[in-house]
Amino acid sequence: MAYDHKIYRALPGEHNLTDYTEACEELRFESVERQFSWHSTGRLNIAYEAVDRNVMEKNMGDSIALYFSDGAKDIRYTFAQIKDLSDKFAAVLRKCGIKKGDRVGVFLPRSPELYISFIGIFKTGAVAVPLFEAFMEEAVKDRLGDSGAVAVITVTELLERIPREALPGLKHLFVVNESPDHPNVIHWWPEVEKSDALPIEWVDREDPMFILYASGADGRAKGLVHVHGAMVGYLITGQWVHDLKKDDVYWCTADPGWITGIVYGFLTPWIMGVPVVVRGGRFNAGDWCATLADYGVSVWYSAPTAFRMIMSGGEELLKKYDLGRLRHILSVGEPLTEEVLEWSLANLNQPIYDTWWMSETGMNMICNYRCLDIKLGSIGRPFPGIGAAVVDDQGSILPPGQIGNLAIRAGWPAMARDVWNDHEKYEEYFKIKPWFISGDAAYMDKDGWFYFQGRLDGVINTAGERVGPFEVEAKLEEHPAVDRAGVVGKPDQLRGEIVKAYIALREGVIWSRELHDQLRNTVKTGLAAHAAPREIEVVAAIPLTREGKVDRRVLKEWVLGLNTGQPK
Ligand code: WT7
Repeated sequence: MAYDHKIYRALPGEHNLTDYTEACEELRFESVERQFSWHSTGRLNIAYEAVDRNVMEKNMGDSIALYFSDGAKDIRYTFAQIKDLSDKFAAVLRKCGIKKGDRVGVFLPRSPELYISFIGIFKTGAVAVPLFEAFMEEAVKDRLGDSGAVAVITVTELLERIPREALPGLKHLFVVNESPDHPNVIHWWPEVEKSDALPIEWVDREDPMFILYASGADGRAKGLVHVHGAMVGYLITGQWVHDLKKDDVYWCTADPGWITGIVYGFLTPWIMGVPVVVRGGRFNAGDWCATLADYGVSVWYSAPTAFRMIMSGGEELLKKYDLGRLRHILSVGEPLTEEVLEWSLANLNQPIYDTWWMSETGMNMICNYRCLDIKLGSIGRPFPGIGAAVVDDQGSILPPGQIGNLAIRAGWPAMARDVWNDHEKYEEYFKIKPWFISGDAAYMDKDGWFYFQGRLDGVINTAGERVGPFEVEAKLEEHPAVDRAGVVGKPDQLRGEIVKAYIALREGVIWSRELHDQLRNTVKTGLAAHAAPREIEVVAAIPLTREGKVDRRVLKEWVLGLNTGQPK
């Protein structure tokens, strides 16, 4: 393995984290707890720390918590307003009989109500179940059904994707937009406006806060259970990785249907009293640059695909906007490539700090920091207090330069605590003691910097979004023309990977453009648009393992154009 990575030197300056080595020696997560009010009061709820505390203890009621824009409307909410509305929404939920531990789905496009709903749910002690707005009926049904959600908050446009008849446990449907012609729903705004506030429900630090469904290599998406106590990890990474300070304006572009959009999209900055920017609507390079400029975003957390899409707008695009307040840029979700880093240095006058973590880890794990050199192509170094290593399949630590399983010593504050309804699946992550096995391949260099080398398990990462091949295969195989399908990630310049499907047709079926479109549509309307294969190729047979499962190794070789000896 080559060690001659290009280096971008650490930046001088007043960073929250100034001495990485010392921090590694000294940080105890228990000492971070002192920064929360529950440390002294014994009363704990993330909604209190993220919202109410800013109003009641920090005198920040009039400070902006949320800058929301969708191009058409531009709204700001102070911490006091978020507190008031979430207090009231919590009371509405309680009036419906929703109590601590109940699951409540959040199926909303990015909007102020989405954030207020999350906080309201937490205030009742109920457990939020985020559903990405692009999910179609099947994905919605699986997640609401598996979590046993009793209520869901949505908009009228998404109602038809919630199959109520198949979800007998789902008692209450809230819609946040005006909807005169839907009699069987509860109207969010009128209920909230006429509601009184109720006191917050205190919880245990190990009580569930949200269940986030993440796709795996096999089977259906897993409901990762995250707990209130995770806030310890949110706060310290917000301080040391995101370098957030009180005058910052923070924009994490991820949607709260994914973990980044929850943990860093609002919980972490709000715990620190920092306002967040939320941009609704679809991605558009010009709109995004305008958002950075209009709100004076100072810390920006995004993903390589988004950076590349802005890059493709050319130098001219950036020149139109004043991005003078932008002082710290971070990236997550897919490999941060040299061209993106070079583009940032040339056009935004600063590097981009890559961060590695997963839905399962709940917080940033391996990161770049302002006080450390960036080595090109490296995801950085373990967060202080986190024991990361590259191990073989028996759990032995491999020497520098050798590729193996990227593993984390189990037990950190934000780690998912369970897989909902499937504890066995959870145990699988920890079967090589004492490690959490990430499913990613990596190596470490002799100085302790880590290098991501791809997934080991067939999970596809397209534009930073995680797609489980099994779910797509199952969907394709529902179509009468398809005998068997094998789905794999194909390297792509813009999106990192695209979803590629190999299919074996049933006898007598004739391949056509029309059938191709139909199959794409089956996945698009059944699962989600981002999961629909961008390429479909017909083959004589799908390669199978001895157990009769799709042989992902052969698919990978096919898609990379390697000679497998196995005919297509
Ligand atoms: C997978 C986790 C919570 C982060 C957002 C995605 C890939 C994550 C990086 C990075 C290369 C990365 C890994 C990981 N990934 N960060 N900096 N460089 N790849 O969360 O949907 O749970 O996906 O995303 O493969 O296992 P996720």
